[in-house]
Amino acid sequence: MSTHTARVALLGFGTVGRAVAQILTERPPAGVRLTHIFNRNVARKRAGWVSPDVVWTDDVEAVFASDVDVIVELVGGREPAGAWVRRALESGRSVVTANKQLIAHEGRDLLRLASDQRRHLRFEAAVAGGIPVIGAFRDGIAGDRIERIAGILNGTCNYILTSMESAGATFADALARAQELGYAETDPTDDVEGYDARAKLAILCAVGLRVQVAPADIACRPITVVDAVDFQYADQLHCTIRQISQAELDPADPTRVVASVRPSLVPRRSMLARAEGSKNLILARGHYGGDTIYSGSGAGGGPTSVAVVSDLAAIAALEPERPVATPPQPASRVDPEFLTAHYLRFVVKDRPGVLAALATILASHDINIDAVLQQRVHSKDANPFVVTIEPCPPATLATALAEIARLDFHVAPTVDLPILSDGSGA
Ligand SMILES: NC(=O)c1ccc[n+]([C@@H]2O[C@H](COP(=O)([O-])OP(=O)(O)OC[C@H]3O[C@@H](n4cnc5c(N)ncnc54)[C@H](OP(=O)(O)O)[C@@H]3O)[C@@H](O)[C@H]2O)c1
Repeated sequence: MSTHTARVALLGFGTVGRAVAQILTERPPAGVRLTHIFNRNVARKRAGWVSPDVVWTDDVEAVFASDVDVIVELVGGREPAGAWVRRALESGRSVVTANKQLIAHEGRDLLRLASDQRRHLRFEAAVAGGIPVIGAFRDGIAGDRIERIAGILNGTCNYILTSMESAGATFADALARAQELGYAETDPTDDVEGYDARAKLAILCAVGLRVQVAPADIACRPITVVDAVDFQYADQLHCTIRQISQAELDPADPTRVVASVRPSLVPRRSMLARAEGSKNLILARGHYGGDTIYSGSGAGGGPTSVAVVSDLAAIAALEPERPVATPPQPASRVDPEFLTAHYLRFVVKDRPGVLAALATILASHDINIDAVLQQRVHSKDANPFVVTIEPCPPATLATALAEIARLDFHVAPTVDLPILSDGSGA
């Protein structure tokens, strides 16, 4: 067993950096010692509870000139964080980071660099905060071949959608409440458009499916299209609505992936429907071992710092062992659409012949209607009703919807949500 102590520098003393320093002060893992804290204008960050031996600095050169063994990057953003992570690896240090954008975009190159340098690069906190899903994919179920991943990867969206569901709130009210409680940023674009979740899904594709997918190749649809009335209709279908990130390998070509992040109808009895508030949940389907499920807090200083410190503990336990990582293969093709049933919500001027016109177009493309749902008509000028359709080829549905969009009775654009099958959500 190694007697070496890993000397650790924290870059970034914000929400997560502070929480990591707290654990490293109160309960450091064996063989881990915090020696440096770097942050811009560091004087205002100094905390009396940190050991007096720790060096506080706002000069990153002081960290690189020191004898630290592991650099923990908790600054966020692509740059300068990326340059610091590369430099740390090039200078023979191991790195722990919580930076999903950096790993999603540059993880393959950084892993290769770490491997060349025989150093560790760990990023458990970059996906689903305190849920140890990266470790589970990399170690726990490494013996399986993961074929499908589906999950709730953004706590802000889950908070908004579950408040719309439980309180009957509008999207705007639910977002405002999430902002008040600190679950949503002042600019919520990355969350509600799905960009945050797709960066995390790209990382899960690399670690779980072993396929490298560029985040921009993952199709996203915003949750802003979801209205309170959709929850009422979803309820009639024994479903609720969640932002679902999913990726699946093509059995015939394991470098071809179908991947998307979109609001989706989820059967009430599935585990995905049971993730409430800001919680995250990930389901992995293994070829040999079947389904495994991972759930818990996806963000927050406490859970995220546990993931960071656990990575540090693993590195300290493995030292001086030098890892050799095998970077994932680039995807040959990324498709956006799964073969699923769909929920189509129309808002129309109520007049005879509307349903017949829709049905005619769907039938002309061989698309079978499963159900038609209509609440009592509240307004003849803007009547929301729903048609559910059986699974059909995605391109066929897109053509039919384009034709339907040209009909003259629409008051709002059609909302098209996939319906996850009972078997797809555990
Ligand atoms: N918060 C979470 O729940 C959570 C969950 C999972 C992953 N993460 C990831 O963890 C990382 C850190 O997140 P966080 O929430 O802790 O962010 P944060 O609270 O904004 O902390 C970032 C810290 O880095 C400092 N900083 C930023 N740019 C800098 C620069 N150029 N030079 C020196 N210092 C700089 C900031 O200083 P100032 O105070 O001057 O801005 C701040 O103290 C991000 O990659 C994030 O995506 C966070």
